[in-house]
Amino acid sequence: MKFGHFDDQRREYVITNPRTPWPWINYLGNEDFFSLISNTAGGYSFYKDAKFRRITRYRYNNVPMDNGGRYFYINDNGTVWNPGWKPCKTELDKYECRHGMNYTIITGEKNGIEAETLFFVPLKTLAEVQKVKLTNKNKEAKKIKLFSFAEWCLWNAATDMENFQRNFSTGEVEIEGSALYHKTEFKERRNHYAYYSVNVPIQGYDTDRESFIGLYNEFSEPQAVTAGKPNMSVAHGWSPIASHYIEVELQPGESKEFVFVLGYVEFESRDDKWESKGVINKKPAKETIAKFDTAAKVDAAFMELRGYWDNLLDSYVLKSGEEKLDRMVNIWNQYQCMITFNFSRSASFFESGVGRGMGFRDSNQDLVGFVHQIPPRARERIIDIASTQFPDGGCYHQYQPLTKRGNNDIGGGFNDDPMWLIFGTVAYIKESGDFSILDDMVPFDNQPGTEKTLFHHLTVSFNHVIENLGPHMLPLIGRADWNDCLNLNCFSWDPNESFQTTENNSEGSKAESLMIAGLFVVCGRDYVELCRQIGNNEEAARAEKFVNDMVEAVKKHGWDGEWYLRAYDFYGKKIGSNENKEAKIFIESQGWCTMAGIGLEEGMVKKSLDSVKKYLDCEHGIVLNNPAFTEYVVEYGEISSYPAGYKENAGIFCHNNPWVIIGETVLGRGDYAWDYFRKICPSYTEEISDLHKVEPYVYAQMIAGKDAFKPGEAKNSWLTGTAAWNYYTITQFILGIKPAYSGLEVNPCIPADWKGFEVSRKFRGATYKIEVKNSGVMKGVKKLVVNGTEVAGNIVPMQPAGSVNTVEVIMG
Ligand code: GLC
Ligand code: GLC
Repeated sequence: MKFGHFDDQRREYVITNPRTPWPWINYLGNEDFFSLISNTAGGYSFYKDAKFRRITRYRYNNVPMDNGGRYFYINDNGTVWNPGWKPCKTELDKYECRHGMNYTIITGEKNGIEAETLFFVPLKTLAEVQKVKLTNKNKEAKKIKLFSFAEWCLWNAATDMENFQRNFSTGEVEIEGSALYHKTEFKERRNHYAYYSVNVPIQGYDTDRESFIGLYNEFSEPQAVTAGKPNMSVAHGWSPIASHYIEVELQPGESKEFVFVLGYVEFESRDDKWESKGVINKKPAKETIAKFDTAAKVDAAFMELRGYWDNLLDSYVLKSGEEKLDRMVNIWNQYQCMITFNFSRSASFFESGVGRGMGFRDSNQDLVGFVHQIPPRARERIIDIASTQFPDGGCYHQYQPLTKRGNNDIGGGFNDDPMWLIFGTVAYIKESGDFSILDDMVPFDNQPGTEKTLFHHLTVSFNHVIENLGPHMLPLIGRADWNDCLNLNCFSWDPNESFQTTENNSEGSKAESLMIAGLFVVCGRDYVELCRQIGNNEEAARAEKFVNDMVEAVKKHGWDGEWYLRAYDFYGKKIGSNENKEAKIFIESQGWCTMAGIGLEEGMVKKSLDSVKKYLDCEHGIVLNNPAFTEYVVEYGEISSYPAGYKENAGIFCHNNPWVIIGETVLGRGDYAWDYFRKICPSYTEEISDLHKVEPYVYAQMIAGKDAFKPGEAKNSWLTGTAAWNYYTITQFILGIKPAYSGLEVNPCIPADWKGFEVSRKFRGATYKIEVKNSGVMKGVKKLVVNGTEVAGNIVPMQPAGSVNTVEVIMG
């Protein structure tokens, strides 16, 4: 069952039934000011950091679901309704929510009044702009009452939810004309405030929640709205809000537009905070308000935002003949990659914004999904990430975006982390050709005076693995590798302890990871190639030897007969082996060791992938391990704590399915690669939205696996490495167009019955119009013609910036 449809022309998903199986959300803003918005206008805004600068309040996992947001209430002669259906849930005559690229348009209609509400954050603006267009479709004139509503968060989203003995006394507001200001804590150390304004004179307001809603009422029955009369309340403590009251008269057929601005102001210096004693300096707020004080100005800013996205999405355009694939590659997968880049894993409807900062490994992986759109921001991100590394190559597992400092509560010791820095940096250089980044001076742990070149950071990353080898000469796992929940040195029996933060017993541990081994071979080879590119042949030779040793160690100690082992535990016992009772085979090591092609000639890659097909594949995707754990294993940790079929215990972790897909392309099995890709691709599962539950336009982190109570049910949409990995896999390995140092490599791996496809790709300033023709093979380039001239091999040589080039590829 579907709850809407794609509108590819406008790059929107159109939700036509507000009762989606889970709130289906979108993201506004792409630099500093961000908002989350659901299909019923729920959600919240924040500045840079969803924990420390939460502007509006949101209630996660509440009853009813998705409570709190920017709400417009219309009182039409006693009938009270919202354009987005919630919170009143008055049955609408028409409802539509269009989620587009960083904007959302929600339209509701009731008794001949249509309310179209547009929400977006204009470029370079610290505000969410909302345009409300009311139209009277009736034959007679109408007088209606419009109320806006936003509830302020007391800045720190974590303490906002717990420190009530203080919070209930701190709230402060100012009211001036049609602007309502949230100046809580401004008197003390803060140098920022928020405001909510509208571009017309108002007939009233409320700034105190209890006065507006009523202590025992719900969002669906605010007493001011039902009474049709605001209270002119001025909040002192308790819960400050901002609500405007506007009386609107509409002639038959008439439309009126109102512009609301929900903004944030921050002062660089404390000296200019105040206008006079106790009165905040409103100049910056007024400047922003003035920029959007007419509907025409808002429309122009909206066009600018759309133009921005046209330009970003123009850098990779596919025509495959498969509508569902094209819309993912050209629109939604790229969009999700950008959102994931901006938010890492901090704020979604599954990530509360208070739990996690930016992940070291996560952010590096996210890079491969958006680097072609805006290389300069990828560059900046790499430097930020590398600055949180330790001198020995180890890394803080997470850092906070506001301070860019590593998080001490979670610390380091995840031994896969250093490899991802190589992964991200190489992707950046191949895309941009910018080797100069390697010479940038980057500190360790953000300590001034410790700066070394970024290249040095890559060297210590590489060395970190080889300096931490275990008894089988395989990488020691540390606290965990990519799988945060495989905690081999944790041994927790205390239910009050978090698996993620508790002290690990790594001392004397023999726990080794085959996933890191495969990752090291892939990234290690990238490092070797990079060294050669910059003429450091000595370092290349040194590193290559270690990579080759790792390949041998995997062949010797990492093979179980039909597949690669997953790990060795603390005591040196096999994990992911036929000898084990449960979890005999895992996806991660099959993915990385086949991507690395370890034992290709000996048939290991084929055997491993055949075992994946046999034991891990199911209707909805590839599960993480099999059989699922049905018992808690203290030696393994969190992985065995999940019920069978969910999350890291045999769930379909969409993030790692692409590793197997890439493995299949190493083998040249384009049909298997495509089949796996399609199974988890959202536009292909749109029809089962009722089972799937989450948005059909973006990937979810996890789909319940075959052992689950409800296989096929997805969770944790939006902020997941799945976005980047699937984009990387489809564009660079299935369609096979891959940035290389010397040009664009073309090496598709597709089902034999595909006749071909076309891609327009921007690369280092030039445009390449690539046409791939296939007559019955899955892999192999027989002929490459660039601008009419045949070229040997499968690399399209770099063309001058600004040029438009034709590339013809004949597979065979
Ligand atoms: C989550 C984490 C990621 C981790 C994965 C598997 O997606 O963000 O860092 O690798 O789970 O545990
Ligand atoms: C939980 C999640 C996992 C995530 C980890 C890190 O264990 O299951 O996916 O990576 O937390 O926060």
